[in-house]
Amino acid sequence: MERREFIRVCATGIAATGVPSGFAAQDAAPALYARAKLVDAQGRPLRASAIPANKNFVFLYPFASTPCFLLNLGKRAKAGSVLKTAANQSYEWKGGVGPAGSVVAYSAICAHQLAYPTRQISFISYRAQAGGANKLGQVIHCCAEHSQYDPSDGARVMAGPAPQPLAAILLEHDARTDEMTAVGTLGGEMFNQFFAKYEFKLSLEHGGAARQAVSGTAVVSELESYCRQQVRC
Ligand code: FES
Repeated sequence: MERREFIRVCATGIAATGVPSGFAAQDAAPALYARAKLVDAQGRPLRASAIPANKNFVFLYPFASTPCFLLNLGKRAKAGSVLKTAANQSYEWKGGVGPAGSVVAYSAICAHQLAYPTRQISFISYRAQAGGANKLGQVIHCCAEHSQYDPSDGARVMAGPAPQPLAAILLEHDARTDEMTAVGTLGGEMFNQFFAKYEFKLSLEHGGAARQAVSGTAVVSELESYCRQQVRC
């Protein structure tokens, strides 16, 4: 029987067994959801080292209607920052995954007023370069009211009205296969507010499946193909 390869876990103290560890009682604990391997449109597992740097990729997780960003920052993400939710719960950001520690994932629902990438339009995306209203490079920028998040540091807020970082998506990385599996979130989730605010729109788009759990696999797409129009600001 082959010895199971060490699996590194992004952004949290979850061990390879999936058991959270290292969090004090008052901390924002990781929220574990169904496991979903990240795959391409043909169902082939994505390899962390094959993700192009500084491009926006999206996948739906942990629910069928909640988009997330997958980013290769092209540099090792920081680790060890202590971040806080709007409810003042602290948590430690553990950095990126992949051979270079450069791959990160976050909920794409803005922590201010819940702008998110739809199939028609996206006000929020990662920007490698500064320009226009975006004075900072390498940020996730929401053009609705210009909240900007640092994806290399747990998506902490760098500018704008957002009261907390984007929720991190926890990724397990298998060092043997270089494949990644989404297992949960860490930080201030906005899912309840999202479902309440967009209830009617989501019911039109998804019927009763908007809150359906994503499990097994999650298909990763380029934002350009997922979304018809991207707002630049
Ligand atoms: S909704 Fe993103 S900054 Fe207001």
